[in-house]
Amino acid sequence: MSTLIDASIRLRSSSKWDVAPDVIGVGIAESDYGAPEFIREALADYVRSGSLGYLWDQPQQALVDSFLVTYAALCDRRVDRETVRLATDVLSAFDIALKTVGRDGDVVLVPTPAYPPFLDIPERFGKRLVASPMRWDAAGHWSVDLDHIEQVVAHHPGGLFVLCNPHNPTGSIATFEELTALSEVLTAHGWHVFSDEIHAPVVHGTSPMRSYASVSPSAREHTITATAASKGWNIAGLKCAQVVIDNPQLRRRWDEHVISGHTGPSTLGVVASTLAYSSEGRAWLHGANAAYRETLEHFHARLSTQLPLARWQVPEATYLSWVDLGAYLDSGLTVAELSDRARVEWLPGASCGIAGAYDEWARINCATDASTLDRLIERLGASALRIESL
Ligand SMILES: Cc1ncc(COP(=O)(O)O)c(C=O)c1O
Repeated sequence: MSTLIDASIRLRSSSKWDVAPDVIGVGIAESDYGAPEFIREALADYVRSGSLGYLWDQPQQALVDSFLVTYAALCDRRVDRETVRLATDVLSAFDIALKTVGRDGDVVLVPTPAYPPFLDIPERFGKRLVASPMRWDAAGHWSVDLDHIEQVVAHHPGGLFVLCNPHNPTGSIATFEELTALSEVLTAHGWHVFSDEIHAPVVHGTSPMRSYASVSPSAREHTITATAASKGWNIAGLKCAQVVIDNPQLRRRWDEHVISGHTGPSTLGVVASTLAYSSEGRAWLHGANAAYRETLEHFHARLSTQLPLARWQVPEATYLSWVDLGAYLDSGLTVAELSDRARVEWLPGASCGIAGAYDEWARINCATDASTLDRLIERLGASALRIESL
């Protein structure tokens, strides 16, 4: 375990652990490592200074400076400072994108499995949701189904495509070739893209992370990119996201939908994100990602022995494991019943798709210590075997 991670923090006070006392919380995508110590100390000093009024310009400019450097390094994308906007969080950026792009009744296309809010939110903004099942290749890489996407976009010009890269829940990173081919199809039919790159800091070095908007001039023109330090540095509760919009007209429309002073990041979120994106923050992140790789490896090794029929892939990014438990559910029992028996709270695959597409899957968050994962696997092994023998 990396020495950069403060081993004494094994948080049990996050939303992930808001579960009954005997339940193991591996659902919500947040890490038990908590925020880096240097950020916690800086926040404590900041609070002591009493400077807790409305956010003003100087801290925002400092965040943009820090973001530009680190984002370029993480996503292989150079960004101009005038294209950056700050938002409360990535989901409120998604809300604004839905208001900014297109009209009522336009299609929002979401590859599945998906981060569940992407399936719920579009219709609340008057859009029509279409799901596009992703493909899973023999090497364990999940990618969008371009043929299906082309069929949909050709019939519904002017929609919004929701790209999540690195991908939650599968942990795959889209390749340059995949992104380029996608940009050609979407450009041909006048589509826009909301590119969620919130997991870009948590990558494992097996595949390069490339921001969608950087793959072609047309991708740059039709994309709203959103990211945040909340996953990489565990500061989601502080509320601060960064949005990049290259196209000036799109940016103007975005600005029209943002009521200045009423929506936006918190002052503490801006202070913490500025530090996260500093060189000290990047060094900490490097250690955190090494620790996640260790726990993911540990988890998958144990899973292979205790539940050998489960199917999973080594994630290229994120601390999440997306597991197919179908082989253990032949007797008609469900993933929900399995989690009840094992006293485990994960993200059920059912919430990541529509029409029962991923009912046999579960997303398990491995950003915890090895002993918690051991207990989880033991309980799952015991419960799944009982189910098998029913
Ligand atoms: C892919 C993805 N996007 C967005 C979010 C939510 O981010 P925020 O808290 O910034 O709205 C999450 C949180 O788990 C996520 O995994």
